Formats: sequence, structure tokens, C-alpha cells
Amino acid sequence: MPALVLLGAQWGDEGKGKATDLLGGSVDYVVRYQGGNNAGHTVVVGDQKYALHLLPSGILSPECTPVIGNGVVVDPSVLFSELNGLNERGVDTSKLLISGNAHIITPYNVTVDKVTERFLGKRKIGTTGRGIGPTYADKINRVGIRIQDLYDESILTQKVEAALDGKNQLLTKVFNRRAIEAGKVVEELLSYADRLKPYVADTVLVLNRALEDDKVVLFEGGQGTLLDIDHGTYPFVTSSNPTAGGACTGAGVGPTKISRVIGILKAYTTRVGSGPFPTELFDEDGEALRRIGGERGVTTGRDRRCGWFDAVIARYATRVNGLTDFFLTKLDVLTGWEQIPVCVAYEIDGKRVEELPYSQTDFHHAKPVYETLPGWSEDITSAKSFSDLPKNAQNYVKALEEMSGAPISAIGVGPGRDETIEINSFL
Ligand code: IMP
Repeated sequence: MPALVLLGAQWGDEGKGKATDLLGGSVDYVVRYQGGNNAGHTVVVGDQKYALHLLPSGILSPECTPVIGNGVVVDPSVLFSELNGLNERGVDTSKLLISGNAHIITPYNVTVDKVTERFLGKRKIGTTGRGIGPTYADKINRVGIRIQDLYDESILTQKVEAALDGKNQLLTKVFNRRAIEAGKVVEELLSYADRLKPYVADTVLVLNRALEDDKVVLFEGGQGTLLDIDHGTYPFVTSSNPTAGGACTGAGVGPTKISRVIGILKAYTTRVGSGPFPTELFDEDGEALRRIGGERGVTTGRDRRCGWFDAVIARYATRVNGLTDFFLTKLDVLTGWEQIPVCVAYEIDGKRVEELPYSQTDFHHAKPVYETLPGWSEDITSAKSFSDLPKNAQNYVKALEEMSGAPISAIGVGPGRDETIEINSFL
């Protein structure tokens, strides 16, 4: 029954928290399927603003069961501080479920992330420094530590020793750092075991049973399509699959169960960290988008790079995710521009290119080809239906829809929970 995937259609930070929260009331399970505390969702409920990094945004809806799937990497200390923060504000977090197969971000994974970035110098990825890449690397190298390992001390010790063997060589001989003691790491990890225990579950079984029972399950991608390890702007990507297929592997639900894939699309474009970004602006328009849109990372506090809407990217997201709908966010940020440029194609070495080039070199050379659409100056934050929008805002939305290849079913016109225009229901 209804299994919806909600994911970022650009480079992340498209406003997924708001979209998930909009659906929260009618959703039974909200599942994170990849990434870790590198993500950042801001959710506004009434006059309260919540910044979530690791927890699924469904944690704020009392009737919803939040799930951290097997594809997620979990830093227990971050998890606990996020839970404590919510509990202090009166949010009940007792329904949370965490897959016993999810991998743990260990302290040495965080160290390796930081020293590797420092070592790369100018060529750095601009990671969030949370240990995400090294934890996924350990998983693929089959030396990762999973949540279930916390409940067998002898296995845990063997695994931590195995993982640290090579890393300590690297840390001491290449990075000139002190070796990390396996015993200390094991001690720290064991200190999390009791508090984690009530949350640990066979989430694959729980989710498949829920779908058999006609429950509504929402899979929430942590980062955007262009940050996907396979389909993004490699190597300037995260180390997991936020694209739709990642929901299946990262939660253990078959592709035949997915009924809808919704891409969150910002009305302009932003990116954090290094890597190509054809429509990036370095002028006062970019500065204005950053200021008006509040484009500062929820997780890192870094300023986001800002640029105009890129339809080539949106079309690509439609294709690689099989998107059925878009949720267009932050349309209100564009209020006040007389003309709004939209990138409809690229020019690469003198040739017009309509689709995202598969070659990294070509993408680095891509220059945006703009079409300019007339802007609007009326405040749109109180618009409740599409027809409440000024004509030019309507035309902007329609143009984006036509260029992007999937219907725009909802539009965000302000940060608040109810500042959303629903065109087609997602359920
Ligand atoms: P990592 O995920 O920390 O390894 O960072 C890899 C790249 O993904 C960097 O460019 C980060 O800035 C970017 N990144 C990771 N998570 C997010 C996110 O939630 N929003 C936007 N960018 C992100």
C-alpha cells in the first residue's frame, strides 16, 4: 500500500523537512534510508523551530513511528543529544525504531574524515566532517561496526581491532597522528548499548508488515539526487544513495512496493561543499538569494552557494528517480525580482546540450543557457491555492513544471507548516 519516497531533486537542502512534516499527520511510518547526521532538516511547528540531523522528521508527529533504516549510519552520541534536545522540549521520542543492521559512526571514522579532508587540501570534498564517508567505506570493506554488534562484547572487540589495524598504520605513518586504542573505542561504544536497546528492531520486518497492513510509509532521503554516490557529481558527493533506489536497499523494501516518488525542488538552486554548479551566482543576486532564503547549512552552519533554477538538473532528477511528482519549495524567496533567469540547457565547448552530461569534464565546462521569465512583487506567503498566486508566479511554476518532466503537486510559499499550496494530494 502507499509507500512514498520523498527525496531532494537537487544538491540537498531543498526543504524536505517541511514536505515530510506536511504529510506527517497522515503517515504511519517515516523512514530514513541513507546518510547520517550530515543531513539537516528544519521543521517549523507552530512557533517552534526544530533542526533535525539524524532523526526522521516524523519524530515530531505523535501518531507516526520514526524509523532509522539499515542504510543509515548512526553516531550514537549525536543520536542521544538530538533525542535529549527533543525530550527537553516535550517531544515524545519513545516510538523510534533503529535497524540493528545500521552501521555505527565510530570516533575513528570521524577522525579519518577530518584528517583526509585536511590532507586533500585544495582538492577536498568539503564534507560535513561527521565521519560519513569513512563509515560507509568500512561497511563496503566489510570492517564496519553495526548496532547489533554492541550486544556481543567479544565480537565487538574483534571487529574494532580489525578495523583499527589498518587505520592506525595510516594515522601514524601517513597522517602523522596518534594511534587510536581499540579498548577505549570498545568502552565508549558499549556505554551506548543500554540506552539504544529499546529502539533496536528488525525494521525490515516491521516495515514490510506495515505495508501488508495498508499503513502509509514515507521514505525520507537525507541528501539530494546530485549528491548520490552513483548518480551525483562524483567525487563531490556523499557516500550513499539518496536516489529512489536507495530507499529499497536502505530500508529492505522491494521496488514493487513503492507507489510514489516525490522530488523536492527548490525554486532556485543551492549547494554546500565543493564541486561543479553551473548556475552559481557570485553577484548581488546570489547574495540576495542567500540572505532572503536563509541559505546557511542546518548541520554545518556554512553559507550555501546559491544560483538560479536549473531545469537540466530537474529533468535528470525526474529520470534517475522515476519521479511521479515535485514539491516546489521556497517560491516566496523569489518575490521582488523583476526578471528571473532559468537555466534551460548548457553550452559546453560551443555546443548546446539539453541533458546532464555524463562526463565530469563536460559538466565542469557547462555554462548555463538562460531563458528569462517575468517576476512578481506581491507577497505570496498567504496564498492558499494556485489561483491565489500572481499570474507571473503561476507562469513561473508552470514553466518549471514543463521543463522538469513531472507535475508540481505542492508549492511552498513560506517556512511555516501551513504555508504550502497543495495542488494534488500525495496520498
Ligand atoms: P559528507 O556527506 O559529509 O561526506 O559530505 C559530502 C558532500 O555532501 C559535501 O559536499 C557536503 O557538503 C554534502 N552534503 C552532505 N550532506 C548534505 C546535506 O544534507 N545537504 C547538502 N549537502 C550535503
